[in-house]
Amino acid sequence: MSKKAVILTGLRANNDLHIGNYLGALLPIVDMAKKKSDDYQVNLMVADLHSFTTPIDHYRLQTQIKENLKTYVAAGLPVDNDNIHIFRQSYIPAHSELTWILDCFTGMGEMGRMTQFKEKSSKLSEDRVSVGLFNYPVLMACDFLIYGASYVPVGDDQTQHLEYGRDIAGRMNKLFGEMFVVPQPVKKQHEFFGKDQGLRIKDLTNPNKKMSKSSESDKGVIFLNDNPTLAKKKIMSATTDSINKVHYDLHNQPGVSNLLEIYGLIKGKTPKEAESEFAGQTQYGQFKQIVAEAVAGFLSEFQQRLSEVDEQQINQKLAASEEEMNKQANETLLKVQKAVGLR
Ligand code: TRP
Repeated sequence: MSKKAVILTGLRANNDLHIGNYLGALLPIVDMAKKKSDDYQVNLMVADLHSFTTPIDHYRLQTQIKENLKTYVAAGLPVDNDNIHIFRQSYIPAHSELTWILDCFTGMGEMGRMTQFKEKSSKLSEDRVSVGLFNYPVLMACDFLIYGASYVPVGDDQTQHLEYGRDIAGRMNKLFGEMFVVPQPVKKQHEFFGKDQGLRIKDLTNPNKKMSKSSESDKGVIFLNDNPTLAKKKIMSATTDSINKVHYDLHNQPGVSNLLEIYGLIKGKTPKEAESEFAGQTQYGQFKQIVAEAVAGFLSEFQQRLSEVDEQQINQKLAASEEEMNKQANETLLKVQKAVGLR
């Protein structure tokens, strides 16, 4: 079988997206999918099973999955490209089946050492730390191992999970003979995708913190569905400093630098290029005004595009991709089932 090499990434579904997610994570993924789809099979998966490893509002999950998918399409993800598959994890039951099998070859210690587990579990009372949060990396590994993915673009907070995936694949291959493609090491992943991925945008009221929907207040976060006028106000009241120079200097001027990042991403410029537009300015009012206008313009245009997305088309794409993914995943699962004596 001369199959194309596979790229897979998982998209979280249980978030109201903000411009930080959009500009820093979602657009780069869409870009990557478009660029690589001539030479690779690109699998974009909505990690719906992963969405309740920490408590969520289950009544909103279906809506959020659909909204997120629409957002990707509004961002330019081509729905009619046969090399790009868009699917929901829970529609491919083999992921969960394989997870159970690999669970039984994974150590408690190995999972307990995961930084993200330690961080997330420390914020919850003990009986709210679920077994699902604990073995989340196993399911994540199955997501990419089941398609033989070589490339898995992930943010820094996920590289440990990728390493585990490489370990368990190697371990199984050694125990039972070749059954998994071992994904490329993190360094190779960075070379392949460029290290520009990941969230850079910071909270507007506290520019030392990532922009995140779980902030105490919404003032520092611009959601994709924010009214553009409200968004402008948020930019105008963003925290800056008293240096009064528009410099891209993350260390000494995190607030100003954050605004330059946002402006740059919207305008397709590097923060340094954005900076040069404001050379010589000694007050922030006008600078903020320009950034605010850009953000408002971006939001209106985006919201317009979102309202034009054809949901029917997305549903058809999901159905087609999910059929194909079930085929591919079941092949790997059967190989593993045979190897461990289940078939
Ligand atoms: N864990 C990823 C995140 O929190 C989402 C994810 C789930 C994923 N399965 C994946 C990413 C497989 C890459 C590959 O963002």
